[in-house]
Amino acid sequence: MRAPDLSTTIAGIRMKNPLTVGSGTYGHHGVFGQFYPVETMGALVTKTIRSHRWPGNPPPRVHEVPSGLHSSVGIPCNDWDYFVAHDVPILKGLKVPIIQSVIGRTEDEYVEIVRRCSELGIFAGIELNLSCPNTKQGGVDFGYDPEASFHLVKRARDATKLPLIAKLAPDYSLLSRVAKSVEAAGADAISLVNAPRAMCIDYRTRKPIIGNRVGALSGTAIKPMAVYMVWEVYRAVRVPIFGMGGVTDYRDVIEFMAAGARAVAFGTINYVDPMALPRALEDLTTYLQENGIEDVNELVGAAHDDRDELLIPAENRLESEVPV
Ligand SMILES: Cc1cc2nc3c(=O)[nH]c(=O)nc-3n(C[C@H](O)[C@H](O)[C@H](O)COP(=O)(O)O)c2cc1C
Repeated sequence: MRAPDLSTTIAGIRMKNPLTVGSGTYGHHGVFGQFYPVETMGALVTKTIRSHRWPGNPPPRVHEVPSGLHSSVGIPCNDWDYFVAHDVPILKGLKVPIIQSVIGRTEDEYVEIVRRCSELGIFAGIELNLSCPNTKQGGVDFGYDPEASFHLVKRARDATKLPLIAKLAPDYSLLSRVAKSVEAAGADAISLVNAPRAMCIDYRTRKPIIGNRVGALSGTAIKPMAVYMVWEVYRAVRVPIFGMGGVTDYRDVIEFMAAGARAVAFGTINYVDPMALPRALEDLTTYLQENGIEDVNELVGAAHDDRDELLIPAENRLESEVPV
């Protein structure tokens, strides 16, 4: 039997297979590959960095819940000089396309970190983590605001020639509008979902459990929601999608690809079963062979058919205006 073609190109980034990792869930402080070679995956998405040192949120930062993880880490970060001296030499040694995730508290901070990362010349792409509150506009996350995300991506676009991936927040009401905005602003791909907001309260103390009080929910609990969101965004935009949210094995990879993802990321599962990604790669290969599928890209969008048009809210189907 012929080996299936697992390679894919997303936002101009050539990946030897469609599997990657969710930012912040694999490899910290330049420590990669303890369980399997990083080069096993099609691309490496690194932990979000900032342009400046940042302590992150107070502990406790993570709390396990049934079918998932409740967390609020707050993106702690060393300063830029430390990143260049410590992380960059390690990243340079990896033979895999690296997508560096970045965040800022303001547009200027985003632009600054995008520019610095571009100048290093080692990254295949930059992922904009849009989950930071836009303090100038009332503290709503950039990713929950079509206009703010448009302006931010436009400025980031002007600051780099590298492929730009906009990572969206899971917001039911504005998702398609935000997706269209970032596409119009020049994003080459969209990544979703980031973990939705959540809270856990200890019945004994009657207080929130994690230090930041408000956190996020990730893991298998959010998978059906994430699959739906990939499906919706696939219909709203033309740029390719990195899908994620509760992926644990090859079956989840197929489901996300059928919904419209061209690449799929393993997140919280890395904390539970660090070998999940290489196993899924093997199982995916077997699945493609057994089903006579020669090219993995044939899976992309397989869940869509014409009848789906009827299910999309009208405002999401229209090529409606994007904020300028
Ligand atoms: C502990 C933890 C840290 C995370 N850190 C980041 C981060 O730095 N940047 C980012 O864009 N997403 C971050 N995420 C979100 C994941 O990349 C992913 O989008 C989300 O968890 C959904 O996928 P999952 O359910 O497979 O984990 C983090 C998630 C967890 C659980």
